[in-house]
Amino acid sequence: MYYGAAWYPEHWPAARWDEDIRLMRSAGMNVCRIAEFAWSTMEPTEGYYTFDWLECAIDKLHSNGIAVVLGTPTAAPPAWLTHHHPDTIATEQDGRLAQHGNRCHYNPGSITYQKYARRIVEQMVKRFGHDPRIIGWQIDNEYNRVDYSEDTGRRFQAYLKDVYGSLDALNSHWSTAYWSQSYSDWREIPIPIGPHNPGLMLAFRHFATRVWADFQRVQVDSIRAGALSSHWITHNFMGWFDGFDHYVVSKDLDLVSWDWYVGSGHHDYLSTGVVHDLTRGLKRQNFWLMETQPGCVNWSQNNNMLNKGEARCMAWHAVAHGADALLYWQWRSAYGGQEQLHGSLIGADGAPRPFYSEAAQIGSDIAALNSSLDLSKSTPVNDVAILHSYDSRWSINAQRHNKSFDPVAVLNQYARPFAAQNIGIDVVSAEAALETYKLVIAPAIAVLTETSEAEMAAFVERGGTLVLGVRTGQKDAYNALLPALQPGRPLLRKLAGAEVAEYYALDDSAPVSLNLAGTTSEGESKIWAELLRPLDDATKVVATYGEFNGWLDGGAAITVGPTNANGGKVIVVGALLDDDAQGELTEWLAQIASIEPVWPDHIEGVEFSRRRFKDSDEELLFIINHTRSAQDVNTAGSLDPATVNILTQQPVQGTLHLEAYDVAVLKINIGV
Ligand code: GLA
Repeated sequence: MYYGAAWYPEHWPAARWDEDIRLMRSAGMNVCRIAEFAWSTMEPTEGYYTFDWLECAIDKLHSNGIAVVLGTPTAAPPAWLTHHHPDTIATEQDGRLAQHGNRCHYNPGSITYQKYARRIVEQMVKRFGHDPRIIGWQIDNEYNRVDYSEDTGRRFQAYLKDVYGSLDALNSHWSTAYWSQSYSDWREIPIPIGPHNPGLMLAFRHFATRVWADFQRVQVDSIRAGALSSHWITHNFMGWFDGFDHYVVSKDLDLVSWDWYVGSGHHDYLSTGVVHDLTRGLKRQNFWLMETQPGCVNWSQNNNMLNKGEARCMAWHAVAHGADALLYWQWRSAYGGQEQLHGSLIGADGAPRPFYSEAAQIGSDIAALNSSLDLSKSTPVNDVAILHSYDSRWSINAQRHNKSFDPVAVLNQYARPFAAQNIGIDVVSAEAALETYKLVIAPAIAVLTETSEAEMAAFVERGGTLVLGVRTGQKDAYNALLPALQPGRPLLRKLAGAEVAEYYALDDSAPVSLNLAGTTSEGESKIWAELLRPLDDATKVVATYGEFNGWLDGGAAITVGPTNANGGKVIVVGALLDDDAQGELTEWLAQIASIEPVWPDHIEGVEFSRRRFKDSDEELLFIINHTRSAQDVNTAGSLDPATVNILTQQPVQGTLHLEAYDVAVLKINIGV
């Protein structure tokens, strides 16, 4: 496992570097990310490159046993570039040009910018591409910009021509006869600003995705052309950020990484695990946590410090969900610059800050782990998948219908109770292959393509349990309504044996009676409710609405479609249940799909997560006490008393005692 920080040697005199590296070593660090904003230091004037300083820093890191991830600096173009080539600067929605100096002020689609980006990357590759001291490259930093220039408008039109082939096709998919939107020339099509035609809005998101994929491709190609094959390429994404389709953009990368910040308040493992799961799902492989906060940030409403011990839990929580590396941002703040007050490991005085001691403890935990196993050979393996789709999020967010309807919150509504029940989940693309799962949930997958439909239907045929959540299956790939009611795809309608007769944005909560496992209970549907209509005699209604608006009263809220010969079935959930009822629902789903929790007992605030070693019966069990009080975990009957906590080298011996924010990592054999 790799452990380290983002370090900016260009901010400091070279005479300081040895001390920084000594402190990194004594915190147990073995990796460092450098150079991702250092363009003006590497190319101070156009065509004049200075890499000796970087070579020297890399050399010092390497000779101290610290591997290097080299960042390409394109998130922060130098002033000479933007000054001489204003066409590289991004245009905002209101037509103003972005200002130099706040980074990410470039237009990723600008051909001029791509030319300069290619040039600096090629120069870096020429100098460092054959350097075994480098293990990988990070391209740019947190892609996020959308450009609204006329040039981008023309590119968008060319993109549409490429994708749709004819204006007839485009007009038909977008229903442009509506409000006289019909286009007779590609040049008439605008970049949507604010609410617009749903087809146009979705297409512009796809275009923004293409822009980032192309921008990235320029750098990927330059690196692959000259770098050692052992050098991997990554980009650091931003969790739920939806500026582009991450499944598409991550295709060209070897490795996905992300930057996890809490900002204000404290970390809540029930809702953060799913963001790691989302990131792991982008390429369906382990990821790097390329940045995380050393105590506090500087950009939130209240930049409070994490509690002492909390960062250690966060570190192991990330690892438990598939992180193979963890890097703090940043090592030390520059004296100037916009992020002076951000958390760091080293203070303005050059000495360790209080947080450094916790970082060093994590470093010694990781050293203990590394000395006993190769973490990267293990990964979380789960029976439950929650589907995720950028198209659906964009579609719904543009037409929430109830302003509180947040598609990410709906996904979380399933993820949270599973986390509380110690059931691991994968979050995968709505188009992903589903062969390995027992239970698949499609929460608010409004845009449901034929590919998804075929995959879901095959999954059910094989005996899987498929849950179609609210708003799922309402629209086609062009964001047009499907001509049948939800689930609007024919195979799914048949398997579900039910349809959504009507959807209701709610001004108040609607009562729901559940009859899931033979017992009845009462709950509420909040924000949204769908009135289900059974279409098949074999369809069972397992929840109904109580008296509410007249329309929903007594109607079906949850149905179970006919069960096929392999035990496969489709459950349609039309209610957005309150937390308790949702907990019951997920428990019942786990039960009918024969899902075993990672750990049988629920202990409030204590996480149990697992990673499995490939082709082996061995697993790592992570037990993380996310609370501020000590917890005892009774392992009798569940674990061999001789099982050793890798972090302390102590056997668990019946009761595992965890102090506040304490962690245990156990290697267990599930074949025994
Ligand atoms: C982002 C950036 C970093 C830094 C941190 C501060 O994640 O990638 O360069 O600005 O935020 O929290």
